Amino acid sequence: MCSKIKKELSTFEQEHILDFITELNQDQREQLLSQIEQINFEELDELIKKYVINKPEIKIPENISPSPYFSEIPENDDQKKLYDDANKKGKELLAKGKIAALTVAGGQGSRLGFDGPKGSYPVTPVENKTLFQYFSESLLRAGNKFGAPVKWYIMTSTVNDKDTRDFFKENKYFGLEESQLFFFTQGTMPAIGLDGKLLLSEKDSLALAPNGHGGTLLALYNSGALEDMRDNGIEHISYFQVDNPLVSVVNPFLIGLHALQQSEISARALIKTGPFEKLGNFCIVDNRLEIIEYSDMPDDLAQEREDDGKLRFRAGSPAIHVISRKFVERLTTGGRLQLPWHRADKKIPYINQNGEKINPEESNGVKLETFIFDAIPMAEKTMILEAQRENEFAPVKNQTGVDSAESCRAMLIARDAKWLEAAGITVPKKADGSPDCIIELSPAKFFDLEDVKEYFKEKSSVIEPKAIIYYE
Ligand code: UTP
Repeated sequence: MCSKIKKELSTFEQEHILDFITELNQDQREQLLSQIEQINFEELDELIKKYVINKPEIKIPENISPSPYFSEIPENDDQKKLYDDANKKGKELLAKGKIAALTVAGGQGSRLGFDGPKGSYPVTPVENKTLFQYFSESLLRAGNKFGAPVKWYIMTSTVNDKDTRDFFKENKYFGLEESQLFFFTQGTMPAIGLDGKLLLSEKDSLALAPNGHGGTLLALYNSGALEDMRDNGIEHISYFQVDNPLVSVVNPFLIGLHALQQSEISARALIKTGPFEKLGNFCIVDNRLEIIEYSDMPDDLAQEREDDGKLRFRAGSPAIHVISRKFVERLTTGGRLQLPWHRADKKIPYINQNGEKINPEESNGVKLETFIFDAIPMAEKTMILEAQRENEFAPVKNQTGVDSAESCRAMLIARDAKWLEAAGITVPKKADGSPDCIIELSPAKFFDLEDVKEYFKEKSSVIEPKAIIYYE
């Protein structure tokens, strides 16, 4: 079999991954060997030396300044005109079918600890709709509202691809046409022990992990999704994460401003709640836009304030983007793109020398990931648009507390309450100002505030305290 493989593994001191090969049946051997064959050991060995054995030093550039951004409310008449034009342009692009949605759903969701693709996690306050159902209904309504179905690209990973496709199929694609959906799978990277040795997750399998959301760009190219976009006349991609049901899946204003500004990659920004909020910081370095991770931002810079007391670096990234298809094509020409690697220390279950499965209590290894936002400095033109957190960002990361399903439900209720109030409905309030009821607007009917106002135009209504109501 594998004298060539053995030789290569021994050159790079990784021959232990064949320790159990004699115990494996034919299929198991083939699986392991094919995983091994896909690895470029020379490159991996360099990464191990650079990122695992030696912890990479984070070099913060010297000349960082905060990035300017468009405020959500226009600041003068010219801007008001630009924003009106942007809204119009976004709607036109949607009506012509030039916009696709793209959801990154390849992550492992380890903090949530949910057994299944994160998109199949139930999240809405009354109907318990899953994240995937919520997005599907919103896209369905967007298609009807703007006049053309929105094609939806969903990135999975090898770990959850089948379950994700099955979930959609079992649920009849939540009313979308099957042809409207394009599932594609991102690449993987082997997980590496702290000693630089590759880890086995089973005797017949390496511990493989998805290669980070930066893997989206090459996966679009490799899977044919990018070609499919071109064939379907898609010009811009509305990018969001699977765990944020509050995001507007295709936002005409954001899309239109992106297009009018001829931006290659655009981003929404939230005003950070404090200097150390766990959001990437929009910064300008050498005239280029860059996101500097919260963990890499020096404390003194993070805490700098302007004369009026506002944080100097106050624009944080909720990972909502519009990306031009041509930019992705440019970056992935010839199927090559190298984004910088980031090291994440994790608890990685593995098979030890005795063939026993170990579930470590402390970090025992490293996963290497690339991040989508590292593509931003490669763009010639970028654009950032402020968003109100309560309208756009309610991520489900943890089981409880901050960024949990519970906090997300509360934000969904609060947003729907705000829309209902703006449409003339009286919503009962608790002493702290939050809604004293559990309400849910179906995105299949209510894509935005305009839809809510239109529906309640002739109706007035008062919601009773403690009421539980689903509007569909
Ligand atoms: P997170 O960084 O929050 O990771 O991903 P996660 O895997 O969902 O959760 P934890 O950290 O293990 O608890 C942000 C978004 O990027 C996607 C996720 O699915 C989520 O939508 N993602 C992340 C990918 O699509 N692929 C990856 O390799 C990593």
